[in-house]
Amino acid sequence: MIVVAGPASGELAARVAKALKCSLIEPELKRFPDGESYVRIDHKFEGEHAVVVQSTCHPVNDNFMELFLLLDTTKDLGAKRVTAAVPYFGYARQDKRFKPGEAISVRTMCKLIERAGADDLLTIDIHEDEIMANFAIPAYNLTAMPLIGRYLANLDLRDPVVLAPDPGALRHARRAAAEFMADYDYLEKTRLTSTKVAMRPKRLSVSGRDVAIVDDIISTGGTVIEATKVLKKQGARKIYAACTHPVLVGKAAQKILAAGVREIISTDTIKHKTNMISVAPVIAESIH
Ligand code: R5P
Repeated sequence: MIVVAGPASGELAARVAKALKCSLIEPELKRFPDGESYVRIDHKFEGEHAVVVQSTCHPVNDNFMELFLLLDTTKDLGAKRVTAAVPYFGYARQDKRFKPGEAISVRTMCKLIERAGADDLLTIDIHEDEIMANFAIPAYNLTAMPLIGRYLANLDLRDPVVLAPDPGALRHARRAAAEFMADYDYLEKTRLTSTKVAMRPKRLSVSGRDVAIVDDIISTGGTVIEATKVLKKQGARKIYAACTHPVLVGKAAQKILAAGVREIISTDTIKHKTNMISVAPVIAESIH
């Protein structure tokens, strides 16, 4: 087995190679003046199983293109099996036609990964599990939530509640909370009038309790900030925000902290200063 480091995931790829006790290849990557990508892998794979690690975070289109080039080149240089490890899968939120005529972008990306030569694929906490059904090759959606739960367990939280900011993220909150037998819930929105919406945890009170908001992605921070405002009004003590994928565009992290979140906790699917947890063991354990 050998790990190929994609340009978006160099450090994570090195951690995966270490966990798998195998070698790491760092391909040569350049950008031509016209914006095209150049990839060169100085290795003959000769029947090896190669794992290409590349998150498709910002710059999303370049990172996807370089993933396709790496998969195709690895196969062409003799790998007998190529695993695409795409810890953060870009375009996953465009998984249906919200308006007539829209591209179902994530489905296109799945087709292209397969066509580029991947024999199997793994990703982590993809936006919707159903996306995996777009692949004809074996495709696995792993989760970082147990690792997040273990990190939260070590924070010594007072009477903790693990909270999903919406019903869609409840599965994540439940999985993280299970690691330390914490209570979990989700924020429910109730329409009071045509202009007024009330938001509160569905079952639990957060008054005087420490709360960890858990989600798959924090992007603009809008969801976490809205949740934080509600939780503060309802008497929550310390508030933490944890996610698998710290997309954190622009000044999102600063805005979240300014809203009263004590700490942002993320994994290294996307390199960011909030990375407290590595998903390398999750990836390594899933590869056989
Ligand atoms: C939405 O369904 C996702 O799970 C996240 O809640 C969302 O992507 C977060 O986005 P933002 O940080 O921009 O509110």
